[in-house]
Amino acid sequence: METAVIILAAGKGTRMKSDLPKVLHPIAGKPMLWHVIKAAQSLSPAKTVVITGHGAEDVESMVKTEFPSQPITFARQTEQKGTGHATQQAESALSGFQGHAVVLYGDVMLNARPDVLPQLQGNIQPGTLTVLTADVPDPTGFGRIFHKNNQLVNVEEKDCSEAERKVTTANPGIYALPAEALWSMLAQLQPNNKQGEYYLTDIIALAPGHGLSVHAVSVTAERPEMGVNNRVELAAMEAHLQASLRKMHMLNGVTLADPTTVYFSTDTVIANDVTIGQNVVFGPGVTIASGVEIKPFCHLEGCTIGTGAHIGPFARLRPGSTVEESAHVGNFVELKNATLGAHSKAGHLSYLGDITIGKHANIGAGTIVANYKHKTREKFKTILGDNTSTGSHTTLVAPVALGNGATTGAGTVVRGNVEDGALIVSTPTQKTKSGYNI
Ligand code: UD1
Ligand code: CA
Repeated sequence: METAVIILAAGKGTRMKSDLPKVLHPIAGKPMLWHVIKAAQSLSPAKTVVITGHGAEDVESMVKTEFPSQPITFARQTEQKGTGHATQQAESALSGFQGHAVVLYGDVMLNARPDVLPQLQGNIQPGTLTVLTADVPDPTGFGRIFHKNNQLVNVEEKDCSEAERKVTTANPGIYALPAEALWSMLAQLQPNNKQGEYYLTDIIALAPGHGLSVHAVSVTAERPEMGVNNRVELAAMEAHLQASLRKMHMLNGVTLADPTTVYFSTDTVIANDVTIGQNVVFGPGVTIASGVEIKPFCHLEGCTIGTGAHIGPFARLRPGSTVEESAHVGNFVELKNATLGAHSKAGHLSYLGDITIGKHANIGAGTIVANYKHKTREKFKTILGDNTSTGSHTTLVAPVALGNGATTGAGTVVRGNVEDGALIVSTPTQKTKSGYNI
């Protein structure tokens, strides 16, 4: 049966107290909404409609940038009148669609847990509203799902009686139902509740009257996965996802010296037999081959590390960087848009930006690339051949190139290209004044 996904991402997120739309707040290096869209694509939907409103331009541009080739459309909810009203905005984008609609909230990370949406999909049946439920010890803030007069209902916490508030079966907001029935139920919603909003959750009680049977499927869930509404819940969800990423990498054959001090991005790719020391942070876009050792206190982002390379301690690898096989990046070395060739070493105190370094090179302590012209904001490229060696405190004024085997003396400022095999020294010769301080 064909599926269309509707993701609600138009809310103000008032409780975040942020200029950034709530669904753009990152968890493990990617916006919340990114996680939900990514997971939803695993259902191979015929169409995906993201409802945007608050901060719509920013939300839409993130989606277009991150999912350029997916058939995702947007529907605007110009006034935020509740989750039911938001869902209704998808109707014209899905007009004529005969299959099932899966409705998801952009702030519920349970959607992104690999087992959850497949479980929903496996339970989709004709003529049925399938709704996931989760029993959580502390359901404070969530809608409660229970039977009232022999009928399944969702009651929002603010509308619950004291007894109803004690119900621990909570609503994570994950539904699948025939699209046509959804539109007719949404048209009947009334904002007669404490918040004066059109609640999507009312479809649970309306379904039987629209010829649908209601099938509640219980899933396990931790509280943070059920929805992020403020920054305390954001931090709790971050911690929860980090714990599962650490576990995943360890089970894949990665040694973490002290797991709780290592932070991953959701897209970090690490081969087996990699060892990671304490206090290492992975930003988005890192790929690491097997046999790599990352010593403590390193920060890596947008980079690729080849087999058997050694990184750190205290190294910073920035976007566009590649450290090839068996190369070594040591302490207080920063790479940005840099390639360090196989078996090459940059052991100490260097800035290597916009540079390609060949194989078996040695970058002396304190080598700095002067790659930036502040006046014009231009960046220039440096190329170092194989077997090059820079003396300590070399400054490479880009654009500049050193041929294979070229060597620079300590303290050299390189302003022009150097031929293969040459030695250049640009420091003044040493002068001695005897008896100067006697
Ligand atoms: C909602 C559910 C609640 C459930 C909880 C799970 C309703 C009425 N309540 O409550 O039963 O337990 O999620 O986390 O649905 N949004 C819009 N437009 C709006 C309002 C919201 O697009 O006008 C979007 C938000 O961006 C958000 C999602 O819908 O991604 C959920 O809205 P939110 O206000 O966070 O609902 P909750 O109060 O958490
Ligand atoms: Ca929410």
